[in-house]
Amino acid sequence: MRVLGIETSCDETAASIVERAADGRATILSNVVRSQLDEHAAFGGVVPELAARAHVTWLDHIIAQACSEAGMKLGEVDAIAATAGPGLIGGVLVGLTTAKALSAALHKPLVAVNHLEAHALTARLTDGVAFPYLMLLVSGGHSQFVLVRGVGDYERWGTTIDDALGEAFDKVAKLLGLGNPGGPQVEKLARLGDPERFRFPRPLLKENRLDFSFSGLKTAVRLAAEGQAPLDDQTVADICASFQRTVAEIVSTRAKSALARYRAELPGHPPVLVVAGGVAANMTIGAALNEAVQAAGARLVVPPIPLCTDNGAMVAWAGAERLSLGAADPLDFSARARWPLDSADMGLSHHGA
Ligand code: KG4
Ligand code: ZN
Repeated sequence: MRVLGIETSCDETAASIVERAADGRATILSNVVRSQLDEHAAFGGVVPELAARAHVTWLDHIIAQACSEAGMKLGEVDAIAATAGPGLIGGVLVGLTTAKALSAALHKPLVAVNHLEAHALTARLTDGVAFPYLMLLVSGGHSQFVLVRGVGDYERWGTTIDDALGEAFDKVAKLLGLGNPGGPQVEKLARLGDPERFRFPRPLLKENRLDFSFSGLKTAVRLAAEGQAPLDDQTVADICASFQRTVAEIVSTRAKSALARYRAELPGHPPVLVVAGGVAANMTIGAALNEAVQAAGARLVVPPIPLCTDNGAMVAWAGAERLSLGAADPLDFSARARWPLDSADMGLSHHGA
């Protein structure tokens, strides 16, 4: 089965063709991503209206490129999958409507993919990880622990009560006058800094829950920066290093608790922690997670970074997984700005199976 996957929920216009063999093995035949960094650079963040327009301009070309890199004609794909939410609704509409048009014109099934499910199933595309497993999704829009029991079968164990982790990186970068996206900039400068110089709060850490809160930390970073103004390069690097170290500590402490819960609730299933989302690129957080996972006697799976960030291959794969279980969606499926993974209609029975 060869599935075209379309992703337009944020600032990446992406298309990919993925083949799923009958035994579940995956091959990525093409994976084309066009990032809109330049369009949004002047605004210090993603502007939804500009993002939607850029998706309109580029999506056809990106799909054509995905076909040509896979050595296929559009008519040769077996199904069309597109992100139907959650995300910036203008962009989601562009991708989903394009997918519906292709589905109708080519007489191929449509799969309306939940973007979070696509992140959640990526470890099966890249590493063939078996169910169940625990996912930590840390991106610009989400920070959550999700128990992945099967396709369409998710339980959210924790989420952020304010900012997402990637968002916190981006805001810290912005207040320090660094470029966008902020995560990679903060990580780069943190290498030159002293992680001990500033002591930032670790909110919620004493509470026995799996939620995150990053907005207090962001405020503490702002106050520290204001207290040190005018900032010299070393102080900026020290703030970056101290912030990053704090975040790594928060994430790894939470991961330990999540793995303890996993052991208690799923005895007999060796614990596996899968990481998804752009923040997975951060080496300090990765090292802290690795330590937490080792200490818990668990296994850590981090897909290659281009597949952790937004891409079409994960959408194609989620579509293929759903189709292999008999699920497809009607052409009147609505795009959604909000669509939690553990909502009632994630189940396969709501999608045609
Ligand atoms: O998954 P992603 O590409 O897009 C979505 O948000 O869906 O994640 C982007 C986020 C941005 O907030 C970016 O600053 C963050 O991931 N990020 C990083 C790093 N690389 C990307 N954060 C920390 N360290 C990094 N190396
Ligand atoms: Zn994403």
